[in-house]
Amino acid sequence: MCGIVGYIGFQNAAEVILEGLRRLEYRGYDSAGIAIAGRDSIQVVRSVGKLQNLSAKLQECPLMGNMGIGHTRWATHGEPSERNAHPHLDCTRQIVVIHNGIVENYRALKQELINQGHVFQSETDSEVIVHLLEEMWRGQSEQDLISVTAQALTRLEGAHAILIMSSLFPNFLLAARLGNAGGIAIGRGEHEMYCASDIPAILPHTREMVFLETGEIARIDSSGYQCFSLTGGPVTKETFRIPWDPVSAARGHYTHFMQKEIYEQPEFLTDTLRNRLNFENSEIVLEQFPFSDQALNALEKITIVACGTSYYAGLVGKYLIEELARIPVEVDYASEFRYRQPLIGPESMIVAISQSGETVDTLAAIDEARQKQALLSAIVNVPGSQISRICTGLIFMHAGPEIGVASTKAFSCTLVDLFLLGFYLGQKRGTLAQERRTALLEQLIRLPKLVSDVLELDSAIKELAAQYYEASDFLYLGRGINYPIALEGAHKLKEISYIHAEGCPAGEMKHGINALIDRHLPVVTIATHDRLYHKMLSNIQQVHARDAIIIALVSQGESEISKFARHVLELPDLGHLLNPILNVVPLQLLAYYIALKRGCDIDQPRNLAKSVTVE
Ligand code: M6R
Repeated sequence: MCGIVGYIGFQNAAEVILEGLRRLEYRGYDSAGIAIAGRDSIQVVRSVGKLQNLSAKLQECPLMGNMGIGHTRWATHGEPSERNAHPHLDCTRQIVVIHNGIVENYRALKQELINQGHVFQSETDSEVIVHLLEEMWRGQSEQDLISVTAQALTRLEGAHAILIMSSLFPNFLLAARLGNAGGIAIGRGEHEMYCASDIPAILPHTREMVFLETGEIARIDSSGYQCFSLTGGPVTKETFRIPWDPVSAARGHYTHFMQKEIYEQPEFLTDTLRNRLNFENSEIVLEQFPFSDQALNALEKITIVACGTSYYAGLVGKYLIEELARIPVEVDYASEFRYRQPLIGPESMIVAISQSGETVDTLAAIDEARQKQALLSAIVNVPGSQISRICTGLIFMHAGPEIGVASTKAFSCTLVDLFLLGFYLGQKRGTLAQERRTALLEQLIRLPKLVSDVLELDSAIKELAAQYYEASDFLYLGRGINYPIALEGAHKLKEISYIHAEGCPAGEMKHGINALIDRHLPVVTIATHDRLYHKMLSNIQQVHARDAIIIALVSQGESEISKFARHVLELPDLGHLLNPILNVVPLQLLAYYIALKRGCDIDQPRNLAKSVTVE
């Protein structure tokens, strides 16, 4: 996950920035760079690998100046190399940019800018931003700078956090945020200002911070900042005082880690995709999955083992892998697996899913599979965990540390990993034609931004929570690939609000669950567009006929379901295989706000632990 630091004041900017970047090292990176605004020019130093390489270069050739920006990069487009490292300069070397996120439409923009005569130095998507600014700033006065920059940035598709500096305007930096590609915190000092993607980078210097929201741009000089909406007009920001204790500092301006982790999803989903999509050949690259093509082609079955939320992710995985790779997939509770004399052998691959990588039942299931000579693979979040040490094939979630006991971002990142696995097996086994692979990659790259759009339902969901937080039961209904999403929605609500909730395949209602339905029961239905939509519509009508309170998740533009549902939440449509990742987000928020209204201990719910290391 890339890191961003900016400084303007009276100190040596390069030193302040380098120190800030060091505090972001935990995020992971493969290259780094710093740009400092000199008297009439911008100087840039970049290097591959660790910050000590950058530091050595800076010692050889010190950068002097009191304003600068720095970046640690984790490659998405283009290999980790010095020329792909940020900051990126425009053709005149007067504008410089650092960026977190993915410019989804960079190919079209790059071509347009090349046609206009711009020369690109890197293979990155980020470089289009600086050339776009060069193009659009031309002939503009400082007075129009914010509005012209806003126009330029709104041409970028995807989610972005950006810092801009220019020798044309040597007294201020610009910071902008579009969507949730990571935040930007702006910190105030005495005659100096700081900004960073993460609070720890600047916390030793300042505790007074404001946070840019999506769609905002700030002009930062040494005495303060002004914030504007990208659509026009100044914005008044609330200043937060960040406490010293490291736990509260890590939570930032969020009330709970769970809330923070829900909001971090676009950023970590980007990390999960990073370096794994090859648009040239329309292929997926799995860096730690060393099974031969022959072994993968010989597979007769995949068995997924996991517990809790990871198990529900596994159930979604069954739909993904069976459709993409046409291999039979069974999904087992890890706690049950070894006790049922499972039929598994060298022709099978086990896929263990575990956020912590330490769950004892999942470890025991892997051991069972190992004894029966199955191929051992795992989807894990924590590097170095036991599961990551014993499995041959690894697909990391890249969800970052998950502190809230109720899993959120690890779930969505796992779904991406399962999609990648299904795609990878499909590409190896020849079940995915090139055209379909290209179309799927185009969808996949849009995912982080669309999750960010779904998060805008926050206040609508908060209102729903205020209406129904006193309910004693909830029912969640879904079909096909969204049935496990219904299970996960119910699981989240149970874990943190202590309300009884059930998830059910909607087609099964008439076989028993119908008996529970009355006018007091909130029923959350997942009815976004897919081939089971019409079946779901008729299930919703059946629930409506029994007077229940229907809260429906639908695709944007849907009009039929609103005739029956009391509340409708409209979601973007990313195709039936990726929609589940969008659909789970409102269910996480609903559980969160209901638990908040009920005054529950959200991050540490009663009787539950983050890592379950006993049977
Ligand atoms: O670390 P793991 O993914 O192996 O943990 C499995 C479950 O214990 C975990 O998913 C649990 O259900 C969480 N509390 C879910 O929110």
